[in-house]
Amino acid sequence: MQSLEIKGGLHLKGEVEISGSKNSALPLIALTILSRQTVQIDNIPNVVDIKTLTKLLQMLGSEAHFNSNTLTINTKNINKTVATYDIVKTMRASILVLGPLLTRFGHCDVSLPGGCAIGSRPVDLHLKALEEMGATIEIEDGYIKARAENGLKGADIFFEKKTVTGTENIVMAAALAQGKTRLFNCAMEPEVIQTCEALRDAGIKISGIGTETIEIEGTNGELLNIEKIRVIPDRIEAGTYLVAGAITNSEITITNSEAKHIASIIEKLEEMGFSFKIDNDKITIFPASIIKPVNIITAEYPLFPTDMQAQFVALATQSNGTSIIEERLFENRFMHVNELQRLGADIKIEHNRVIIHGRKELHGADMMATDLRASSALVLAGLVAKGSSRVHRIYHLDRGYQNLESKLAGIGANIKRIKGIL
Ligand code: UD1
Repeated sequence: MQSLEIKGGLHLKGEVEISGSKNSALPLIALTILSRQTVQIDNIPNVVDIKTLTKLLQMLGSEAHFNSNTLTINTKNINKTVATYDIVKTMRASILVLGPLLTRFGHCDVSLPGGCAIGSRPVDLHLKALEEMGATIEIEDGYIKARAENGLKGADIFFEKKTVTGTENIVMAAALAQGKTRLFNCAMEPEVIQTCEALRDAGIKISGIGTETIEIEGTNGELLNIEKIRVIPDRIEAGTYLVAGAITNSEITITNSEAKHIASIIEKLEEMGFSFKIDNDKITIFPASIIKPVNIITAEYPLFPTDMQAQFVALATQSNGTSIIEERLFENRFMHVNELQRLGADIKIEHNRVIIHGRKELHGADMMATDLRASSALVLAGLVAKGSSRVHRIYHLDRGYQNLESKLAGIGANIKRIKGIL
C-alpha cells in the first residue's frame, strides 16, 4: 500500500493550479445518461472517483474515453441498468445514476450504499422523492430496485434536509419526467447549480437555479442535446491549498479558482489574520503576523463547508489560543483528531465539536488516513510538523486530489510517495 512521506517545517512559495471539481464532475457524468449524443466534459479532474463512475457507465454499456482532462462519453448503447455492489461500495456517489437511469429506462437496480467512515449517510430522501414522482421502490438483497415503467411524473417535493446529491439526482430525474416538478428546500451548492445549468443549456425549462426552490418542466422521455460542458474549479481543493499556505504561514497563489465559491473559507482565514489578493481566477494568501484562533460551525452552502472542517482543525493547532469547530452535517467526522494527536496536537472531542488548544509544536509521526478530507488534514499537519511524517492509506486522497504530492512539491514542500508494503 502506498504512503506519503513529508518532511515538515518548510515555507512554501509559488503557484498551484486548481483542478476541476470532483463533486461537480460526478453528477455531470451521470447526466450524460440523459443525452442523445456524445458529450464532451472538459476540466475533468484526474482522480479515482471519476474513474470509478466512468467505469460504472462503461459497465452499463456506454463508450467513454479520457484524453488528458477531457472525458468523451456516449451512453446511447446502455443495455444494463444494474449498478453493482462492487462499484457502489467503493463510492457512495454512484447513487447519482439512480435518477437518470430510472427516468430514461423506467427501471434500475442500484446497490444500497453502505455505511462509511463519516457516519451513516442514508439515501432515504432520494428514494422518497422518486416515490413521490410515481416510482415504486423496494429494497431487496441489498439493492434499491426502482420501477416506473410508464415514466416518472412531475410532482411537488419537499426535501426534509438539504441534500447535495439528492437534489442533483431528482433534478436529473425530473428532466425526463412527464410535466412539472417543483423541488423545495434544495441544496444550493455550486455543484448543484452546474448540473441545473447543464440542463438549462440542453434546452430544459428550469427556473430557480441556485435557490431553494427549483422548477423543471420534463420532456416526457425525450432525450436531451447535451454537447459540451466545462467543469467548475474544485472549491475544496482550492480551500485545502489555501490552508497549506496558512498552516506554514507562507505566501502562495492558487490559479484557476473561483473566489465567490470559497468566500466562507476566505472569511475564516481572514479572521485568523491572513490576508488575500484576488485577481480574477488567481487568489494569493499572505502570512499572518499572529495566527488567531477561530470558531467555525459547518453548514450548507454558502456557509462553511463540512469538507473543509478537518483541514481547519489541523490549521487551528497552529493558532495562538483556543478554537472551537462544530460539525453539524455528519456524525463521526472527527477521525483525523486521533491522528493529529499523534503529532502532539492538543484537541478534545466533545459530542459534535472539537476544542483545539494552540499553538502546539507538532512533531512528525506515522498517521493513518481514514477518509478523503481527513487525509488532507493529515498531510497539512505533516507540512508544519518538525521532522518526518508518514501518511498511510493514501488511496483515500487519490479519490479526490489530483497530483497532490507534485502540486505541493511544486510550491516547495518536501513530500514524496512511497510504494511500500504497509
Ligand atoms: C455531498 C458531497 C460531500 C459533502 C456533502 C455535504 C458529493 C459527491 N459529495 O455528499 O463531499 O460532504 O455533500 O456538503 O457531492 N441525508 C439524509 N438522507 C438522504 C440524504 C442526505 O438524511 O437521503 C443527510 C446526510 O446524512 C447529511 C445531510 O443530509 O447529514 C447532507 O448530506 P448530503 O448533502 O446528501 O451529502 P452527499 O450528497 O452525500
